[in-house]
Amino acid sequence: MNYKALIREVPDFPKPGILFYDITTLLKHAQAFRSIADELAARYEGQRIAKIVGIESRGFIMGGTLAARLGAGFVPVRKPGKLPADIYEVEYNLEYGSSVLAIHRDAVSPGERVLIVDDLLATGGTAAATIDLVRQLGGEIAGLDFLIELKGLNGRDRLAGYDVHSMIIYP
Ligand code: PRP
Ligand code: MG
Repeated sequence: MNYKALIREVPDFPKPGILFYDITTLLKHAQAFRSIADELAARYEGQRIAKIVGIESRGFIMGGTLAARLGAGFVPVRKPGKLPADIYEVEYNLEYGSSVLAIHRDAVSPGERVLIVDDLLATGGTAAATIDLVRQLGGEIAGLDFLIELKGLNGRDRLAGYDVHSMIIYP
């Protein structure tokens, strides 16, 4: 299926000069959504994944779907002030300034195999911060999966040594 044809490209969003890849037009397409879920499940079946860690907010969509398909648990990594119990936090750099991500301390048990899922790999900062969080809990990172990869931003370089897969690649 031609997923790219279903992704809406919005110029100058959220700010001038940025071309935004809007996946809502892909997700609302019933056959495409099922096809993506099928592809993901086929890739990770039999890999003994205990937990899917999905990154707020769009990582929750494919992450939740995949967890149910694999019979794995789902764990949200969230922005500050959202998780109600004991957390670990990590600060990470954005293009301008920095941000924080958090995980519940009891979300992953030591030695559990974890797959990290997000909608987009750009600079890799968000994913690298999530790796730090999962490692603090003693999770074993089985891999990282992204719906979209922006290759030109070299996010993979920051994830060296990990198994990284993306379904839809833009230069
Ligand atoms: C976007 C995207 C990824 C991240 C990728 O999230 O959903 O999570 O940026 O960028 P990076 O590889 O350069 O770190 P954003 O922070 O815009 O938040 P959202 O998912 O809540 O919209
Ligand atoms: Mg995000």
